[in-house]
Amino acid sequence: SSQTITVIKGDGIGPSIVEAAIQVLDKVGCNFNYEYVEAGLTALETTGELLPQTTLDAIARNKITLKGPLTTPVGEGFTSINVTLRKKFNLYSNVRPVISFKGTKARYENIDIITVRENTEGMYSGAGQIVKNEGELAEAMSVVTREGSERIVEFAFELARREKRKKVTIVHKANILKSTSGLFLKTAREVALRYPDIQASEMIVDNACMQLVMNPQQFDVIVTTNLFGDILSDLCAGLVGGLGMAPGANIGKDCAIFEAVHGSAPDIAGKNLANPSSVILASVQMLEYLGMKDKAEKILAALTDVIASGDRTTRDLGGSHGTTDFTAAMLERL
Ligand code: NAI
Ligand code: MG
Repeated sequence: SSQTITVIKGDGIGPSIVEAAIQVLDKVGCNFNYEYVEAGLTALETTGELLPQTTLDAIARNKITLKGPLTTPVGEGFTSINVTLRKKFNLYSNVRPVISFKGTKARYENIDIITVRENTEGMYSGAGQIVKNEGELAEAMSVVTREGSERIVEFAFELARREKRKKVTIVHKANILKSTSGLFLKTAREVALRYPDIQASEMIVDNACMQLVMNPQQFDVIVTTNLFGDILSDLCAGLVGGLGMAPGANIGKDCAIFEAVHGSAPDIAGKNLANPSSVILASVQMLEYLGMKDKAEKILAALTDVIASGDRTTRDLGGSHGTTDFTAAMLERL
């Protein structure tokens, strides 16, 4: 194909796992062109900017981006690059699936949950950030709109319908956050009525955390606001063996960024320890988005087999091998 993919290798473990994913994509004959650009700490060091204009231009031009995790330096003046990217390209849905793979150290089997996280507003709106009284008082604004709620809930129900799923759970905290979460819930209920073929249920976020740990198999598709979605998706990753198994797609009207759920993992960076499955699974999401279902299934089957066989898996999965061995096992299967 003549599809060009923008690639941001990212910081920390990013380059090693993104390179693994690209080897896998090439191995199944995707024939993508790759345009490599920088963001994050790597970009700051070489260009003086966390998010150079050339990077933004490439993301806009090619529409499809595969991205490694980025380190946002902690400290004043640095807004999260991820939050910026999601807002700038209006990538309003963050789709984070987790599925059980046999052969991990996960506590559960038969998990198949997709968290659909609102990606541009809520507590991450960035609005009204004020520190007052010489640092004694801090404020930030949660912004929820009907339009933003409607489009994310519609996205979740459309996804459920397309993928022949049975249930969408609307997760909220409308009992306490009456205005913001209240508007989200009210809008979600209205949208749910338009999908009589899909079962809609509601759950308050704290109970959802407990239910996910006690009885995760009851969940199918979850739709929720930004902050809750961020937290619940890491919890879901924990159900299937950890962050190394969790991909995420940031999808807007005509632009998408595929990445891992996790960050740059400074504690294991440069040690050949990272599990590349997160970004490989993000590539699978990318192929599905591009309508390349056969290749997506091939990669998924190879990954399933590598993990099930315990052949050359990484430490987080219970194995004793590194990123490169794991990737080699994938490439051999393909
Ligand atoms: P993290 O997600 O990088 O790491 C959390 C834990 O999971 C660590 O113990 C790490 O070793 C482990 N882990 C993560 N990915 C793994 C993989 N592929 N294989 C094996 N183990 C893995 O979270 P942390 O340490 O809180 O954040 C580090 C940096 O990443 C921060 O600068 C943060 O801002 C950034 N970050 C970036 C994200 C993105 O670019 N999408 C998302 C989350 C955090
Ligand atoms: Mg997160």
